[in-house]
Order: sequence, then structure tokens, then C-alpha cells
Amino acid sequence: MRVVRLASETDFAGWRAAARTLRAAGVAPEGAIWTVDGSGGLSASQAGGGRDDVSFTVPRGFLQLAAPAALHRSPERFALLYRILWRLGREPDLLRLSADPDVAKARAFAQAVDRAAHKMKAFVDFHRVEEPETFAAWYEPAHRVAERTAPFFVRRFAGKRFSLLTPDVCLHWDGEALAVTPGADPADAPAGDSLEDYWRAHYASVFDPVRRNLPAPRLIPEPVESAESRTAAMVSHPAPEPSRRAVRAALRHSRDASYEDGGPTSLEEVAAGVDACRRCDLWRNATQGVPGEGQAGARLMLVGEQPGDREDLAGRPFVGPAGQVLDKALAAAGAPRGETYVTNAVKHFKHELRGKRRLHKTPDAGEVAACRWWLDHERAIVRPRVIVALGATAAQAAFGRPVPIGKSRGQALQLSDQAQGVVTYHPSYLLRLPDADAKAKAFELFVQDLKFAWSLVG
Ligand code: URA
Repeated sequence: MRVVRLASETDFAGWRAAARTLRAAGVAPEGAIWTVDGSGGLSASQAGGGRDDVSFTVPRGFLQLAAPAALHRSPERFALLYRILWRLGREPDLLRLSADPDVAKARAFAQAVDRAAHKMKAFVDFHRVEEPETFAAWYEPAHRVAERTAPFFVRRFAGKRFSLLTPDVCLHWDGEALAVTPGADPADAPAGDSLEDYWRAHYASVFDPVRRNLPAPRLIPEPVESAESRTAAMVSHPAPEPSRRAVRAALRHSRDASYEDGGPTSLEEVAAGVDACRRCDLWRNATQGVPGEGQAGARLMLVGEQPGDREDLAGRPFVGPAGQVLDKALAAAGAPRGETYVTNAVKHFKHELRGKRRLHKTPDAGEVAACRWWLDHERAIVRPRVIVALGATAAQAAFGRPVPIGKSRGQALQLSDQAQGVVTYHPSYLLRLPDADAKAKAFELFVQDLKFAWSLVG
């Protein structure tokens, strides 16, 4: 029997090294016991006699599945992953068998971890605990995702300082480097006003050099280190406004982005995340984030530009004047709105104040690019057959390139995720047309385009 001792509950690198050498040494899953930080047994690097020159290939999806699954709280996760790795030797198509109990369990673990990571990003509530600009938060994630989400918080705080305390590990970012210290005790979990005292005591206990009996803070490995250096670089060289070309290139690059990035996996998570989103600055002046509306599985997705004044207050897309035009046109096209998913390229209302009025301002390319992450996830969850872009901003966001409306109307564009794309006017354009004839003509074309899109839905 081989007992493998991993360095920590999140020591995936150690698991990989040990699993690789155990498998190469022919140690069957029943012959290996996986422990964390216990005494006795072999450390991960010793598990295969210290050999690190063992190589064999595993299907591409295995590591994508194993890395998140290893962060699940289940004590059986390391053994389960080793069993799958072992079986892959004889059953190379194993990962395709989604009904296989091992595969199904690992997938469920990975999904639960992804959800936990997303919730952590959306719900950690930082409080200022010290001037200048030091923040602290206490959070208990459902799985061990604190280190995985660290790059997100580092990016969000860039030049500021924060401590994120969890029962698993605590993360401390001082504006330049990230330190990881042991978890804080949930029994002492701070509530409301006591957070500041709790943070002070905890911080002093781990960083005071006199307290030598406590483990030293460690810098955490990839991918956080790379996020750190990226962030440090960002701090010393503030990013210039991206050029239109750079943003377009980024959009093109992200067009086929994998959705296995720890993002939301349900529309409820999208809604929570959109409201908490700080990917750009538009949240500052908006009432709330406005997520899309409709069911996962809707066959037609309609993408507008951004919520307007009414949508910002209601928290729902297309409920104001433009929404009325859209509703009327959908009805005329025979496409029930209730069977569609309606969303926007940008989820917060961008506007300027003119007296008491909030006047719409077109989102810039950087804001559209930042919000594209949400649109991609909505798309991955809803999986529409047809996506209708209402206007140029929506077309840029949904199709990853500028699409001239006049020239491209009435055509089906083939998109990378098997959906088809259709572009048409934005309903606000119809509202702005000054003369009644032009309005009626444009409305007719708008209905025609929606009818065409609905016919593609099948
Ligand atoms: N215009 C849009 O693009 N979206 C809305 O939700 C409302 C108006």
C-alpha cells in the first residue's frame, strides 16, 4: 500500500506529480491512499521514488476536469481522480461516458467548485478597515476556491491592499505581492462592525515576526504569481485607454473562449454576478446591473445595447419605450417574447445627467469588451439557435466584429458556437426617426428581420 502525503488540501501540483509516478509504477487505485499533511507515508515527490521524468498522455479534458474537482471538499476527491487517471490508461474514451459513476461524480465536483468560485467573486463583501485604502472581508466558500479566486481580487484591488479571510486560507495583498496564511477559525467569524478588530488581530498574529510559532506566510504559486506580476506592472504603468483596434482584437480572440473558466453556470448566477460586476466603471452611476430575461434553452436570443433609464430602475431589459417597439415588432413577426431570451451587450446604464434627466450615452469599446464576458456566459447557458443583434453595439459584442447593419440585414451569419446570427435595427433608432413614413418603413423592415430570425429557429 502506498500512502501519499500531499502538502495541503489544495496541493493539486503535488497530486499530479504523485499520480503520474504512481501510475507509471503500476500502482492500482486500491493500492494508494491519499492523505493531506499527515505524518508518515510518502510526500508527493517521493511517491514514485522521486522520479519526475515519467510521461504519458491523458485526454485534453482530464486536467480541465481534475483541477477544479480537486478543490471540492469531498475527502474522496484525490482518490477519485487517481481512479479516473488509472482507468484512462485502458479506457481512453472514458471521459465521454457521462453516465459513468466516476466521471459523473468528478464532473459534479468540478461544477460545484466552479459555482463556489463564482459565488465567491460575486458575494465577498469588503469593508474598509484602514486608511489609506485597506479592505478586509470574511467569507466561507462552499469549496476550497480562495486561492483560485485570488487573481480576480488582485485585479479588482490593483494598487490597494486587502485581506480576505476564509476558514481555508487567508489572502493578503499589499498592492505588490500576495501572501497566503493559514485559514481563520470560523468560530471567531467576525460580524458587521467587529470585522475591523478581527482583521487587526489576525493580521498582527500572522505578520508579527515575534510570533514565530505560526507558519510563515507563503507566496502562492501560479496562476496567482502571474496575476501578481501583471498587477504590479499595471500599477506602475497604468493602462492607457485601449485603442479600438486592440479592443477589436481582444474581442476576436475571446470569440471562441472556453466557458470552463469558473464563470456562472446558471442564469440565476448570471443575475447575481451582473449586479455585483465591477469589470468596468459603469456600475458606479447605475441603480443596478440588468441581466437578461428568459429561459435557458430559449431558441432565440435578442441582444440590445444597454439598459435605458426605465430598465435601470426596473432591473429588467427592454421595458421602456424601446421595449414597447420591440414587443410590437415581435408580436407582428409571430415570435412570442416569452419564448425568447432578451439581454444587452452592456449590463449597466451609461448616462449623463442633464438637470434631472439621465441621458443615454453610448458605451465605449472598452466597456463593451469588459461586459462581453457576461454575454458569452449567457450564450453558453441559454444555447440559442439564433442570435439577433439589435444595432451596431450589439453586433460588435455578439459577433466579435463590426457588422454594417444596412448591408448585412436579412442574412444569416454562421457563428462559432453553432448559432446563427442576424443583425437588424435597434428599436431606439426607429423611435428617433423624425418622419412617420420613414418610421413605418423601418418598422416593416424590422419586423421582416425578426420574422426571418424566427424562421431560422425552426
Ligand atoms: N435599449 C437597449 O438596448 N436595451 C434595453 O434594455 C433598453 C433600451
